[in-house]
Formats: sequence, structure tokens, C-alpha cells
Amino acid sequence: MKSKISPSMMCTDLMNVEEEISVLEEVGVDYLHIDIMDNHFVPNITLSTDFINAVRNKTSVPLDIHLMINNPEKTFHLYKGCNKQDIICIHYEATKHVQRTLVMIKKLGARVGIALNPGTPICMIEDLLSDIDIVLVMTVNPGFAGQKVIPSTLDKIERLRKLLDQAGYTDIEIEVDGNVSFENAKIMREKGANIFVGGTSSIFNKDASISDNCKRLKKIV
Ligand code: DX5
Ligand code: ZN
Repeated sequence: MKSKISPSMMCTDLMNVEEEISVLEEVGVDYLHIDIMDNHFVPNITLSTDFINAVRNKTSVPLDIHLMINNPEKTFHLYKGCNKQDIICIHYEATKHVQRTLVMIKKLGARVGIALNPGTPICMIEDLLSDIDIVLVMTVNPGFAGQKVIPSTLDKIERLRKLLDQAGYTDIEIEVDGNVSFENAKIMREKGANIFVGGTSSIFNKDASISDNCKRLKKIV
């Protein structure tokens, strides 16, 4: 499966977002990962739907919208106008009626993602495979950039890939988010992930330029 990179916009320099987006666009990233947090589902507040609209006006790069909010379905009217390559991803625990919520995403016209926290077992989504396009495996607990990978999540990627393939869902993609460093990305790729969220551990580290970091990550995955 083709590898894709998805820079985490919460790790950009917010005073220079426009400039950084044009660098990312030029280097050819596959998505822009936008973290929406509500201080209820996770203990932090980050980007907003206004940010999504502002980014959409500046670029045609597909958006990878990661909703770390309770009852995400209550905000879906705000994502009208998303295009069919965009991803809208919710967390398994974030709503009581997860299958209904996934169908609502499909109706919005976006690709459908479901995210698993490090403590959420794969079996929770076994009955949802026909409703999704992407599984986002959180490799840290969601909420903050700059954390260390939780080792058990690496094996989880491998177990998930196996389960998807055995069940005939070979086209469901596995995205990884959290401490996707250059070293970890290689391991995650080997385990079966193919969409890589790059934050402070890779694309936005201060060791090299954003563009060099993107090229390096692309080469690795
Ligand atoms: C939360 C975020 C973080 C972060 C990833 O969902 O997506 O995981 O920006 O960047 P790192 O972990 O590399 O700082
Ligand atoms: Zn994220």
C-alpha cells in the first residue's frame, strides 16, 4: 500500500502557518493533519473549525481531520464542503452510537476514519470494518505533541494489519499518530502502517528544515 505523510498542523509555527503550508505543498505532502481537541475528550484545546476553513482557502492538499472531541456528530454541520479525499476521523469512545456517526461522515462525502487510543483494543472495531476507510492507531495518548511512543502500540499495528487482511479489508489504511520519529516510522512501516503523522518528532523538529525533514520521512516510509 502506498505510504503517505500527514504533517501535524498543531506543530507548525502558528505565526507562519501560511508560509509553512506552501513549503509542505511544494514538497508534496499527502495530507495536512488537523487536530481538534475540546478539553473534555482530551485534556487540551487545539485547532478549530475556523482553522480548517482558513487552511482550506489556502491549499488544495487534502485535510486529515482528527477529532479528539466528545459527540463529534454535533459538529458535522461545520464540515460541509469537505472534499472526497479529506479524512474525518473520530475516536471509538467519543460517541455512544459509533456506527451511526461513521455513516454520517460518509454522507458528508469524506473518507471515514476511526481512532484507537493506546488502551482501546482492536476488537472494538471488528464490527465496523465495512463502515471505515482508515484506522488511526494512536501511538501515544492523544492530547499533546512531544510524547514518547507506547511500545505496545507497535505490535498493535501488526495485529491490526493482519486482522484487516484476513477479513478481506486489504484496502483499509492504517494511520499512525504520536512520536512518529524517523526511527519509529521505519518500524511502524514494517508493522503495516502507511499514513504517517509527522509532528515535533520528525517534520517539525528543529534539527533541519521542514522540507528536508519531509523528504527524509518520505524516503524512510
Ligand atoms: C495529537 C497530535 C500529536 C502530535 C504528533 O493527536 O497529532 O500526536 O502532533 O507529533 P509528535 O508526537 O511528533 O510531537
Ligand atoms: Zn492527531
